[in-house]
Amino acid sequence: MTSVFDTRIERDPKYSMKWKRYAGQDIIPCWVADMEFAAPASVQEALMSLNQHGVYGYLKPEDFAEGREAIVDWLEYRHGSRIPEEWIVWMPGVVPGFNMACRAFTEAGQSVIVQTPNYPPILNVHKHHQLDSLTVPVVYGADGPDLDIEQLAQYAANERCNMMILCNPMNPNGKVLSSESLQRIARICEKNNVVLVSDEIHCDLILEPGVKHTPAFSLEGLQERSVTLMSAAKTFNIAGLGVSFGIIPNAGLRRRFLQASNGLSPWANVPGLLATAAAFNGGRDWHGELLDYLRANRDFLFQAIESLPGLSMAHSEATFLAWLDARGLAVDNHQKWFEDRGVGPSPGADFAAPGFARINFACPRAQLENIVERLSV
Ligand SMILES: Cc1ncc(COP(=O)(O)O)c(C=O)c1O
Repeated sequence: MTSVFDTRIERDPKYSMKWKRYAGQDIIPCWVADMEFAAPASVQEALMSLNQHGVYGYLKPEDFAEGREAIVDWLEYRHGSRIPEEWIVWMPGVVPGFNMACRAFTEAGQSVIVQTPNYPPILNVHKHHQLDSLTVPVVYGADGPDLDIEQLAQYAANERCNMMILCNPMNPNGKVLSSESLQRIARICEKNNVVLVSDEIHCDLILEPGVKHTPAFSLEGLQERSVTLMSAAKTFNIAGLGVSFGIIPNAGLRRRFLQASNGLSPWANVPGLLATAAAFNGGRDWHGELLDYLRANRDFLFQAIESLPGLSMAHSEATFLAWLDARGLAVDNHQKWFEDRGVGPSPGADFAAPGFARINFACPRAQLENIVERLSV
């Protein structure tokens, strides 16, 4: 049976960072984390109705009641917790969100804890705020990837450290931290008075049946000391619209966060706000079908990669990203190996993991088959 996600959409490289990198070359781009799929009809309709009158004036995000209600309902639907609306803070992106958190909760010369390997803007955030970076390795146990908790406890006890940025579900390996792991992290943050900024942008892309995402704000031990960053951007493919939101239960932290961002970043913009509300309110069926499609793509890619000598793939519990260990290829330049075969992944080195590569599998199956064929040569 064909799916709406089988439709190939021609993207003009002029308007797509992903397609621009290899424009004019026979290389299939599968790096940056946006999808090759059209957003749900509810989103397209919301944007079209905005365009009907053609007036693009100001809207204060906090006055957009429909958006707050959409978030509250969505979080209850997806994650089983109904939060008070006043916990919500709109912002123009998750990356601006964790940068604002650095401004709000740290001072130059202090340290911030991050995990590694990791999404490059998290790995590099300390550089913008004159902070030291304390990197906690992701280790592999019986349950797959997890944080090295002893290392984390040691860093958190350092008196110059008062903030951690967590990425959960993890980018690049797609691991969803168990609630037990998060409880351990919460206890360490509580004991050492560390603010946890939790980047959960991929939390509505859980592919593995039975795996549940636990938002940071839902853990009692973290309610006084957390900023949970979320967005409809990845899930509904509206990343270019530049809107996300934070859930900050503690009023004092919320005030400090808002003060730190005041005047420095634009308000969340009107098309992005409307699209977010329309996605959460009207995109539920689309979202269910998307997860099925992505899960099948993941399984197809996993089987194919595991049969190729020198390559192996992490089992992505979430996200549309496949984390490939290519160190078995015994080549010096792993990115070149992929590009020579006409495939353009994200280089593992960007995530502090040379010898690895990240493939975005949110594309029509025919395109993924093409990628696999090229890698099999
Ligand atoms: C973990 C993570 N955080 C944040 C972002 C980007 O967020 P935004 O575009 O809202 O700044 C990405 C995009 O790939 C990501 O993977």
